[in-house]
Amino acid sequence: MAGKRLVLASKNEGKLREFRSLLAGAGIEIIGLGPDAPEVPETGQTFEENALIKARAAAAFTGLPALAEDSGIAVDALGGEPGVHSARWVPGTDEDRLHALLARMVGVPAERRTARYVSVIAVVLPSGREELFRGELEGRLTEAPRGTGGFGYDPIFEVEGGRTVAEMTLEEKNAISHRSRALAKCMERLPALLEEA
Ligand code: IMP
Repeated sequence: MAGKRLVLASKNEGKLREFRSLLAGAGIEIIGLGPDAPEVPETGQTFEENALIKARAAAAFTGLPALAEDSGIAVDALGGEPGVHSARWVPGTDEDRLHALLARMVGVPAERRTARYVSVIAVVLPSGREELFRGELEGRLTEAPRGTGGFGYDPIFEVEGGRTVAEMTLEEKNAISHRSRALAKCMERLPALLEEA
């Protein structure tokens, strides 16, 4: 395993930070996509399609095995939206989008505020081999933001126990998150995949 290199196809600082902490100690050198990497339009209709689009582009650009993740929040009362559009469905900052989501949910009672975080990881090898791994975290939208940790929708995403994800430490989030669940599945396969790359 030592010396195995993997390109992480993401420019999202919050995600990079979480992946580095999740992969720390796995003996895999994580290389970021530099600023020269081409922007790839995320045109897929599903998390799986978008993760593959990003990983294929990163593998083609670097010639190295690539890992990409596509994630988002699916709100039941909104038919699964914003889903694959979570990062961009409203222009502005993460905070603007979180408030826009709360605005869409005004008047929706607690029992219908259920939602889930979804993370899909795609690993693409230069040989063309592709594998997908999915993780989810169930929760509920709060009425107002709470907490300062995490990123994105974390201040309004409450999980079992009553805290929002932004009220957790990164270690606590990593113990339950959609991303770490997808990554745990991925890590069962990654050593063998990188061996073959
Ligand atoms: P992507 O970079 O296209 O996968 O966009 C993912 C978007 O989903 C992020 O910009 C956030 O808005 C949201 N998201 C994904 N994972 C999380 C999380 O762990 N916490 C909060 N928001 C998340």
